[in-house]
Order: sequence, then C-alpha cells, then structure tokens
Amino acid sequence: MNKVHTFLSPTKVIFGNDTAGLVGKETAQFNAKKALVVTDKSLLAAGLLSGVQDSLKAQKIDFDIYDQVEAEPPAHNVDDGARIAVDSGVDIVIGVGGGSSLDVAKGIALMAKNKGKILDYAGIDKVPLRGLPRILLPTTAGTGSEVTRTLVVADKVENLKMAVHSNYALADVAIVDPLLTLSMPPHVTADTGVDALVHALETYVSVNATPFSEILGIEAIRLIAENLPAAYAKGENITARYNMSLGATVAGLAFCSGGVGAIHGLSNILGIKYHMSHGRSNAVMLPYIVDYNKIGNLKKFAHIARVMGENTEGLTPYQASEKLVAALFKLLEIVDIPCRLSDYGATEADIPELTEGGMKISRLFVPNPRNMTEEDVKNIYTRAL
Ligand SMILES: [Fe+2]
Repeated sequence: MNKVHTFLSPTKVIFGNDTAGLVGKETAQFNAKKALVVTDKSLLAAGLLSGVQDSLKAQKIDFDIYDQVEAEPPAHNVDDGARIAVDSGVDIVIGVGGGSSLDVAKGIALMAKNKGKILDYAGIDKVPLRGLPRILLPTTAGTGSEVTRTLVVADKVENLKMAVHSNYALADVAIVDPLLTLSMPPHVTADTGVDALVHALETYVSVNATPFSEILGIEAIRLIAENLPAAYAKGENITARYNMSLGATVAGLAFCSGGVGAIHGLSNILGIKYHMSHGRSNAVMLPYIVDYNKIGNLKKFAHIARVMGENTEGLTPYQASEKLVAALFKLLEIVDIPCRLSDYGATEADIPELTEGGMKISRLFVPNPRNMTEEDVKNIYTRAL
C-alpha cells in the first residue's frame, strides 16, 4: 500500500477490425515524406502488406520495404536495416509482422539516429537519442511488442538473446488489427498465444507487480485462456482472433509495467540451442516453473486457476494451484505443444549447458515469486526433460 507505482503507456493504440488501412493517415500525422516498412519475406509474399502499401500510396507517402527480418532476429538485421534507413533518407519506420519484425523495426528506428550497433545498447535505459518515429502493426497475437519498451535480438557471439529496454523503443502508434492475424497457421497461433499467456501470468505473479499490471495481467489471462483453443481450432474465427489480439496487447501493457520472470529467463537458451520459437520455448517451461513457483504466492496462483475456468470450490489454495499446473499442461496438449525438452532433441547430457545458459539470465529470477538457485534451475530443466 505504501509503494509508489509507475505505469508507462504513451503509445497511441488503435484497436479494431479493419484498422490496418489507417496507417497512411497516421503516418501523415508525423509529416513524414518517406517510410521504411519493416517486415519479413513470407508476409510480403502472402500479400499481407497490400493494405498498408495502398494506405501509404493514398496519402502519397513514398516508402521502401526492408523484408530481411529473420525469425528470432540476429542483431545485424537491425544494423543492416538502420543503414538502409539512413541511406534512403526515411523519416519514419513502420513495422508489420510478428514480434521479430516489430522488434527489428523498433531497433532500426533507434539506430537510424544513434551511433554504433544495436548490441551496444543492450540493457536498461542505455539509448541516448529517441530515434525516428515508429508505427507498429502486429500480425500475431503474442509478443505485445507494439506496446512495450523492449526489443530482443540474438547475439550470435554470446549465443544469447539480448534485450534493449528503453522508453525510446516504445511505438508512437500501435495499430492492432485482429484481421491481420487471421492467416496465422495453427502452430504459430499456439506458440505466440502461449507467449502472451506467459507475459500475463509472469507479470501477474511478479514481485514487481503493480495494481495496474495486476488488473491488466489477470484480464489478459482470462481472454487468452478462453480464446486460444478456438483460435487454434479455426483460424478464421474472428471473435477468437479479436479476443486474442486484445489479450496479447493488454498482456504487453501489463508486462511493460510489471516485467516478466523465470519462464522467460530459462527459455532463452532453449530458443538458441534447439531452434525453438520464443513462444514455444516459453510454453515448454511454463507448467514446470508454475509448479515450482506456486508456493511463492498460492493466493494468486489459485486465482489464476479460477480465472482459467477451473472449479476450485472447497479446495485449499495449494490444491487450487496444483489444479492450475494441470490446467496448463492440458492447454498445451489442446494446442499440440509437446512439453518435454526431449521432444525438441534435448538429452540429459545437455543439462549442464542449459543450467549455465539459464543462470546467465538470472536477473529475471529477481521478480520471480520464488527464489531460484543454480541447483533449482538444474532440477527444473531435469524435470522438463
Ligand atoms: Fe515473451
């Protein structure tokens, strides 16, 4: 009660079906003459950018397209894109895509004005200059990147994903059009959807939770748990897609304020080592770490169980928390996510390397509701094997 909380949300969020076509008008508000549209080759080939392109043309805004964004993007995607942005004299960056494209767009906007390379600014509040204005349009319902101050790129030398946290990385405008997510294939729907659930859950139970992040986090959990199975079952279900987009963006707002925890910490090395998507690696660690964490805040974990539709009447908070763990395993089964590390090629011989990799991100153990030693990390990976 005596704590002081900061909630940061300066991004203008335009949310609703068929809103992607507003990008031209929004770009024009910045008096921009030329934009760099940042995306990946598959989205461009699928024609998902046509609405954005038409909207920019209608406003007579010139644009170049940078479509070299790779999945789990290496840092050079940002540095290469920034060079193109500077050389072609763009004055605004528009990111269209999943978390990878949005994060690279954020990085390009920063590096078009800041010296050096993006990895020079890994860490918290190290970016000195604001960068170019940026507008972000997510085509997945997962990352929340459109409303967070974080971007993540892979450092191929350190073999880790590195995060840049800066208020200058926030989008000026987020256009969240659920119709852009309709063509996501089921496995991407599952991976990104569970990532959004992990954002909401980790921030809700975080020791850094604030009244704002709690309210947003728990509602995001409800939206995602209720709608992910339907979105996975039938991608064209507009209601499920709408609610998933809402849940993912609300989860982004929540964790931008409350942060994430050990699930994101221990999943980092998995993405690199087994080439798992960010969402998939989080999904695999989710039930094991919730099981480990539950005694750190039984009341909250029991409440999550209720919000996810479990009947907890007459149960102790511990029993209700156990039900949550079972419900999470069930949800992963429903969306066909195998949740054993061995399903992705891990063996017992990998545990020391995984433990070492997990410990490199031990800063995310601080907000975790239960303390975590190296031995605990090793045991969690071993349980997940
Ligand atoms: Fe995430």
